Amino acid sequence: MAPSERGAGLDVGVDLLAWFELNGRSLPWRESRDPWAVLVSELMLQQTQVSRVIDRWPRFLRRFPDVASCAGAPVAEVITEWAGLGYNRRAVNLHRTARILVADHGGRFPAALSDLLALPGVGPYTARAIRVFASETDDAVLDTNVARILARAEGRALGRAEAQRLADAAVPAGQGWVWNQALLDVGAGHCTARDPRCDGCPLAPSCRWYLDGRPDPDPATGSAGVSGPQSRFAGSDRQGRGRLVAALRAGPVPVTDLPAVVGWPDDPDRAARVAHGVVRDGLAVLDGSTYALPR
Ligand code: ADE
Repeated sequence: MAPSERGAGLDVGVDLLAWFELNGRSLPWRESRDPWAVLVSELMLQQTQVSRVIDRWPRFLRRFPDVASCAGAPVAEVITEWAGLGYNRRAVNLHRTARILVADHGGRFPAALSDLLALPGVGPYTARAIRVFASETDDAVLDTNVARILARAEGRALGRAEAQRLADAAVPAGQGWVWNQALLDVGAGHCTARDPRCDGCPLAPSCRWYLDGRPDPDPATGSAGVSGPQSRFAGSDRQGRGRLVAALRAGPVPVTDLPAVVGWPDDPDRAARVAHGVVRDGLAVLDGSTYALPR
């Protein structure tokens, strides 16, 4: 790290690893180094709370214990197993990824970041998470939590490339697994989006924003990779999409029932538009005059 970057950030006065030893969460996926299990956990954790994933991750792995079992199943079964987790596209992408791994990689995960990034639904975060959490490489994962920590530690909003560079530079050699898990725990327990709990935060001694008295604006707001508040679910297209996929899990839906099923009986145009998106995303097929899960 360049000298100009010293003095704040993630590199001074911090014993994050010692803190993690005492305070780290014990979570079931942290016991695994199987890249398939890691991928499933990371996809679930992207949009679903830890407390829900704790039950669903082992259940999913009982049904699809490895790449081959998922690739060999109809996508409808993966979509069905995903019920209640939301953002159903993740299930379709997971299934596509399993099939590509079987077809092109002998059923195994490629090691190279660029090959992982080519898999459907695997972006910069997930690709690095597979490497770090399954193979214990020294990559740095950069999700909304880590991006928020970095911006505050540096005391300024960061661009995406700079944030990734700072995150990479901070990983102590040979400690990628524990370092990244520790940062995720700091993001969950201390460096939260609203009302951060700086008391007891292991990064506070070197956090520029904290040391400056937490001035407004919070540097995390608007920093690259830091997501804003989630938009309202009630009344959203996303809610209509979710209702359609939930109905399809129970059985086919006649086109004539669509407006009622998505919850807008008086707005067939909106219902049709949302259904079109669900089909485009690979979550449904229109077979004659009936919607169904793809086989
Ligand atoms: N969020 C994303 N990945 C996680 C992990 N491995 N542990 C806890 N929370 C997470």
